[in-house]
Amino acid sequence: MTVPPGVERVLFSEEQIRTRIRELGVEISAAYAGRDLKLIGVLKGSVFFLTALAQAIDIPVKIDFLGISSYSGKTASPGVVRIAKDLDEGIEGQDVLLVEDIVDTGLTVRYLLQTLAGRGPNTIGLCTLLDRTSRRIAQIDVAYRGFEIGDPFLIGCGLDFRQHYRNLPYLAVMNPGHFD
Ligand code: IMP
Ligand code: MG
Repeated sequence: MTVPPGVERVLFSEEQIRTRIRELGVEISAAYAGRDLKLIGVLKGSVFFLTALAQAIDIPVKIDFLGISSYSGKTASPGVVRIAKDLDEGIEGQDVLLVEDIVDTGLTVRYLLQTLAGRGPNTIGLCTLLDRTSRRIAQIDVAYRGFEIGDPFLIGCGLDFRQHYRNLPYLAVMNPGHFD
């Protein structure tokens, strides 16, 4: 595959990502065996990870999606997000795994976990492909993580820069100079 000019270097190859997602699938399948597992993806970034993860899980799963948009402007508190597309179904009594592409400050996920917890699930946990703990503000419990990452801005596997590059099958460090 041709590497686009916005890409500085590949951080995790398609094969490395597939291998790691398979491992997560095995772990999650064992942990949730015999339970009523629902994966909830956060649009749009988590779509690629969620589909691969769901296929790596060998117990029955349901899936649903939430769409969010961050409030912007001076009056907004950081980490306050708006649910722009709500779940199709309730989650009462279900074992829910919130699936994210990346947890950075943790503010988005903290809000979503609190909101979902208020809807009476049996359990609620978090699974993220990428975890950047060095930037964490909100203390949240990450039950399943694909990779711990450092500071550089990443694209691919659902992660975007101005809505581009989500479809790259690998994770790459963006070339910041390309957009100057
Ligand atoms: P936070 O955890 O509330 O800070 O927000 C995480 C969100 O910021 C993610 O869902 C992404 O949309 C975005 N984000 C954070 N770091 C990156 C990155 O390296 N590349 C692309 N998007 C990012
Ligand atoms: Mg996201």
